[in-house]
Amino acid sequence: MAICAFIGLGNMGYPMAGHLVRAGHDVRVFNRTATKAVAWADEYDGEVCATPREAAAGADFAFVCVGNDDDVRSVVLGDEGALAGLGAGAILVDHTTASATLATELAEACAAQDVGFVDGPISGGQAGAQNGVLSVMCGGQQRHFDAAAEVMDAYAATMTLVGPAGSGQRTKMVNQILCAGAIQGAAEALAFGQAAGLDMEKVLAAVTQGAAGSWYLANRGETMVADEFDFGFAVDWMAKDLGLVASEADKLGAATPLTHLTSAYLSQAQDAGDNRMDATAIIRQYRNGE
Ligand SMILES: NC(=O)c1ccc[n+]([C@@H]2O[C@H](COP(=O)([O-])OP(=O)(O)OC[C@H]3O[C@@H](n4cnc5c(N)ncnc54)[C@H](OP(=O)(O)O)[C@@H]3O)[C@@H](O)[C@H]2O)c1
Repeated sequence: MAICAFIGLGNMGYPMAGHLVRAGHDVRVFNRTATKAVAWADEYDGEVCATPREAAAGADFAFVCVGNDDDVRSVVLGDEGALAGLGAGAILVDHTTASATLATELAEACAAQDVGFVDGPISGGQAGAQNGVLSVMCGGQQRHFDAAAEVMDAYAATMTLVGPAGSGQRTKMVNQILCAGAIQGAAEALAFGQAAGLDMEKVLAAVTQGAAGSWYLANRGETMVADEFDFGFAVDWMAKDLGLVASEADKLGAATPLTHLTSAYLSQAQDAGDNRMDATAIIRQYRNGE
């Protein structure tokens, strides 16, 4: 069993760190808001640490799951960062959805200390984290991935090493472009069906299992029709992720018109104050005729 540090006990990190305990690992946690870490330690048998460095000291693995690039830098780098606590031979895994540039930067900083690095953004939502069935898209070296995979198995159903550092983040961008298309398509189609006065329960039953079916239709179709968005993957998170896609696409010279369209819809949702609502809330703009 491994000694694991887990930094960031948000919607995703909290249950992920819990799965590590259930799998028998020795888990030390750090969370910026200490009350969350204390609540976690009440629920699971793990140790609360005052800094990322303290959590990572002597650990075999440090897992990070915070918000964005700057958040990751603030918990990994610097005197009190996780990297300062890790010894040679340890492995840092970043589960945050962040830029490929950050992944390269962290891989270099880790290598300078003989620490392995894997960028491993996740997919599967809060339910996937709670049920321990996440998909982890990884970049890094094979030996670091192989070692980390044995531990990540506690909360993952699928783990794929796609290529060198940064490949995990770029694969997550592929994933988010696909999600954007599925959300945009579902929003346009369902709003059209409602405008036509169709019985949407019957429409969903008819189309969800066919060639047009998607995870979004199956899991969000009913709530989109019912105008319910108080759960799920927030507008702000999706907007952040598509911003990462846009800047990477600029560097690559890749065309992403669909991503730009969905970004504009998400931006309008933010202007309307729907920041924390599920990203499928963009259907409201179709209903408003925008
Ligand atoms: N939620 C999903 O369905 C989902 C799915 C796939 C991927 N993701 C990605 O996974 C990551 C985490 O998502 P989440 O839903 O768990 O987010 P969340 O619930 O908002 O939690 C964010 C976590 O990061 C910590 N944090 C943020 N900024 C920090 C900083 N500057 N310094 C230290 N800690 C900081 C927060 O600490 P505090 O408690 O102090 O705020 C909290 O523990 C994001 O990159 C997100 O895009 C999320």
